[in-house]
Amino acid sequence: MLSDMPSTRRDARDNRPVGFFDSGLGGLCILEAFKRECPAESTVYIADSRHCPYGNRPAEEIVRISRANVEFLLGRNCKMIVVACNTATAAAIDVLRKEFPSIPFIGLEPAVKPAALKSKSGVVGVLATAGTFSGRLYRETSARFAKDVTVIAAVADEFVTLVERGETSGRRAERIVRSRLEPLFAAGADNIVLGCTHFPHLKPLIEKITAGRAEIEDPSEAVARQAGRVLRERGILGDNEEPTHEFIRTKEDDDGETRD
Ligand code: DGL
Repeated sequence: MLSDMPSTRRDARDNRPVGFFDSGLGGLCILEAFKRECPAESTVYIADSRHCPYGNRPAEEIVRISRANVEFLLGRNCKMIVVACNTATAAAIDVLRKEFPSIPFIGLEPAVKPAALKSKSGVVGVLATAGTFSGRLYRETSARFAKDVTVIAAVADEFVTLVERGETSGRRAERIVRSRLEPLFAAGADNIVLGCTHFPHLKPLIEKITAGRAEIEDPSEAVARQAGRVLRERGILGDNEEPTHEFIRTKEDDDGETRD
């Protein structure tokens, strides 16, 4: 009798992996937060170095690239996909949701709302790529949640290059990061939104330069919690005793097969 009881619960578990993709290493901060939040989930991560950076590419191209990443992850049997990239979310998430209606997607967008709510000075700085700023999501969110604050958008594409090179400290990195932050402080920003998943990798440097002048909004933990919530709500949580974590990096100069 007893042996029948747990089976229903066990059968409801779904041990397929959760897929992630980004233009490179940026989304690893989301992946790491997710592994802390949902330690029994297996994952597959695509670092799409071949197309890095996404930031300045036309939206249609990012849609095409994102679709290929999703198809690859579905080929790996993923049950949910985290678009661990603000730029790809801005350009492609609506299309992806339409084209793959049975797959839950989690996207990233700059955390303008919490920053606007917390700001005392009434000025919020957002660091992101050009692609993120030109997307519908950003325009709508800032129009909706930042009515009473001034939002300053600062394109910081060079931060992506720094992170991809592993240059997250040192004099040159400090000069580049400072050149983007100081104008925001000069304008009175007391909240800085990290609107690109590469930027949390520069957080120690950003905090050093900020020196208490502003709060830093890093969305990684909130996104990981949201991903866990969706798995629960859809009844597709995993309970892997030994979860696997596959890391796939697309090749930079490969014009044929895009994956290693
Ligand atoms: N990490 C990405 C983002 O969150 C994009 C960086 C890039 O490739 O330009 O926007």
